[in-house]
Amino acid sequence: MERRETVDKLQAIIEKYQRNETSLIGLLQDITSEYGYIPEDKLEEVSNKTRVPLSRLYSLCTFYASLRLEPMGEHHCAVCVGTACHVRGASQVVEEIERKLGISAGETTEDGKFTLETVNCLGACALGPLVVIDGEYHGKMDPRKISRLLKQYKD
Ligand code: FES
Repeated sequence: MERRETVDKLQAIIEKYQRNETSLIGLLQDITSEYGYIPEDKLEEVSNKTRVPLSRLYSLCTFYASLRLEPMGEHHCAVCVGTACHVRGASQVVEEIERKLGISAGETTEDGKFTLETVNCLGACALGPLVVIDGEYHGKMDPRKISRLLKQYKD
């Protein structure tokens, strides 16, 4: 039953795209919204049904930050690397989080706890460097505060 619903949802998304051939990105965004990411089998199905080569779909997915090929971790950690945050040391904050989590920006930890991403200006420049975890703003970050910050979300 669940499999049937999943097939119907994907089919509906593909049919919407077929009515408007220029919105391939929209189709991929709709799949991301529906499933939280774009599972490999869905991408293959889209390729088969739309006759768009799989390699082209993969290159779109890796180019657009809003398209995800992997599920999001339990906690979403975004570090602002906009100009104001950058000049106040955002790069060192990113490096420290990467070191502590053992992943690079854009990846999810093996245990599925954290997804780390870098983002551009979040409109709270006075708080920079800014880290946002699950929508909670943590301003004036520096590498020495990272351990304690991540600990709050590890349980
Ligand atoms: S540059 Fe980071 S919030 Fe504006």
